Amino acid sequence: MIKHILSAEQFTKEDIDSIFHRAHEMAVALQMPSALGGQPLMSQTLCGRTLACLFYEPSTRTSSSFIAAMCKLGGHVIPITQGVQFSSVVKGETLEDTILTLGQYADAIVLRHPEIGSAHRAAEVSPIPIINAGDGIGEHPTQALLDLFTIQQELGRVSNLKVAFVGDLAHGRTVHSLLDLLNRYESNQFFLVSPFLLRLNRNLPDPKENCVYNRVKDKVSKAVCVGKEGLYEAEDILREADVVYMTRVQQERFTYDSGYRECKDSCLLTTELVGMMKPSARILHPLPRVNELPREIDSDPRAAYFRQVKAGLHIRMALLAMVLGV
Ligand code: NCD
Repeated sequence: MIKHILSAEQFTKEDIDSIFHRAHEMAVALQMPSALGGQPLMSQTLCGRTLACLFYEPSTRTSSSFIAAMCKLGGHVIPITQGVQFSSVVKGETLEDTILTLGQYADAIVLRHPEIGSAHRAAEVSPIPIINAGDGIGEHPTQALLDLFTIQQELGRVSNLKVAFVGDLAHGRTVHSLLDLLNRYESNQFFLVSPFLLRLNRNLPDPKENCVYNRVKDKVSKAVCVGKEGLYEAEDILREADVVYMTRVQQERFTYDSGYRECKDSCLLTTELVGMMKPSARILHPLPRVNELPREIDSDPRAAYFRQVKAGLHIRMALLAMVLGV
């Protein structure tokens, strides 16, 4: 069986535990002085293995963390990350043919593509594992794993949490995958804070293990989204939340500029709002940020988004070691 990573849905709690365990080992090995054997041992792990990074959409963190992870584990990378405009895609090559080609050179492919379902399409023809690094506005499972890992590290638990998802929930593939993962742990409550245009408009996963979804009163377009549990004011949610998961409004996904203009300033975090949050709460963001998260917040201990970036390296090292079968 090829070990593809296509969707958050595929992971059981046991899988997640073992990925986190492996990621923790990677983090420890990275910190270990070479003399104690951590780094040299680790750099044998994927010796002789090759990863193709095929990105049809821009990326900074996802592409470079996979490349860094592969390098630290002693493997090699075929980087098609500077844009497929330099590949045969511009000559009209299909996704399937590009995948079949890379399958002759590499041992796994990390794929980012603008269409929902593209990773599944790739997996149908691929002779080697496909890792979904974002399929349009669909999913981003490896980001969700690193988000969950960050929550575990920062708060010591992934259950019994109040999590506010803020911003562009329609286009935010990281939100879709993280909701799916958090939904399998008990007693999590989700607050969906977004303008009506950017509301989470896909079916919510069935609430499991006492999880509850709440939509939040929308001040921007004056539309009101009532969830299963009623109506909340955004400030009340900030006061109660354990995790505030911020996202940017994804300008590139809008068909009309007017829609973007209406929404772009709708969900901005300010130092004043952060001041309302619990001292134990954490702010996460998959990044890149635009205007929703001012830099003054970065020095607040609750701002966890650059630690989240680091966790991404550890999770992707763990995933590559697992997918490439070592
Ligand atoms: C996100 C993505 O590409 O979905 N970024 C990421 O992978 N870290 C979020 C975004 O682009 O806003």
